[in-house]
Amino acid sequence: MKILGTGSAVPRKTVTNDMLSEFLDTSDEWISTRTGIKSRQIITDERFEDLAAKAASRALDASGLAPDDIDYIICSNVANLYITPTLSSLIQGALGIKGPNCPTMDVNAACAGFVYCLDLCDALLATGRAHNILLVCAEEVTRFVDWNDRASCVLFGDAAGAVVVTNGGDDMLGHKMTCVPMPEVIVYCNPMEPTPFETGEGIDRHRTFEMKGREVFRMAVTAAANDIKDVIAKAGLTPDDVDHFLLHQANLRIIESIRTNLGQPHEKFPTNVERCGNTSSASVPLLLDEEVRAGRIKRGDTILFSAFGAGFVTGTALIKY
Ligand code: ACO
Repeated sequence: MKILGTGSAVPRKTVTNDMLSEFLDTSDEWISTRTGIKSRQIITDERFEDLAAKAASRALDASGLAPDDIDYIICSNVANLYITPTLSSLIQGALGIKGPNCPTMDVNAACAGFVYCLDLCDALLATGRAHNILLVCAEEVTRFVDWNDRASCVLFGDAAGAVVVTNGGDDMLGHKMTCVPMPEVIVYCNPMEPTPFETGEGIDRHRTFEMKGREVFRMAVTAAANDIKDVIAKAGLTPDDVDHFLLHQANLRIIESIRTNLGQPHEKFPTNVERCGNTSSASVPLLLDEEVRAGRIKRGDTILFSAFGAGFVTGTALIKY
């Protein structure tokens, strides 16, 4: 697997912590001290599928491929307006990629979606099922959070990040995907109408987004650090051999704990959580695109991707860029 091109897009509207404190019992001081977040980009009157298509189009341009070279589209998404059709099929239409030769599918692996999908791409390329895959991670979490719950709504932002991968190299040095079934730590239930045949007893239809923040924090720090060490060791390397650690941008304190645990310098851990918040599965490819376009990630660099989220899932992948 080889990453040929990267792209990303964020919505126009910037929402600062001070703007949140106008309608929530919160403050810039609380949010920035506990999470590192200062502002986030939030989707307003834009169409989410356009945001996703913009990131996809930028990745395609950067890859040097033509739309019809793409023979598989995979989208990582937790939730969006469309339950069906898939976001990947909408992107296919927006980019003018010809249908019959290009299957599309959406994957939900929560915030670890990018890493899970990269692993899937690697398998599809290795078996010759696909040759050039467009992978788009697009999230509009702010449309699903409870805007009255100060403990969770302040954490999120919206974004899309994309990569085009091809079977022209041997970039994947190691990977590890895990899941420990724990729906109680992060859960979001879609509102659904009851059928005429049920009583509704025992079904909580009012539950929206719920998260046990402290538990997620503890699990993220422990699981991610262990998986990272494991993947690096199995590749016959040490953390010192890794040039960039691109971690899920959920909370600066989580990133800092993992960095300290690995004994690595700050400059190997780029972040965008300060200005984007937690953008779920878009956070890692967004960060990758920012670092590539800024010239800080160069061909030949060793990159470690690590993300975690609802499930509880973790995804870790080590690549030679
Ligand atoms: N503003 C002011 N006060 C707040 C806010 C807020 N926005 N939110 C909570 N508080 C209060 C609480 O009510 C509580 O008050 P109390 O002591 O009077 O009861 C106090 O602050 C402490 O609350 P805690 O939840 O214990 O605060 P903590 O230090 O654990 O920080 C946080 C909370 C930021 C959510 C942290 O636990 C965290 O980041 N966890 C990880 C969450 C995460 O990464 N989620 C996403 C992962 S998966 C995915 O991406 C979907």
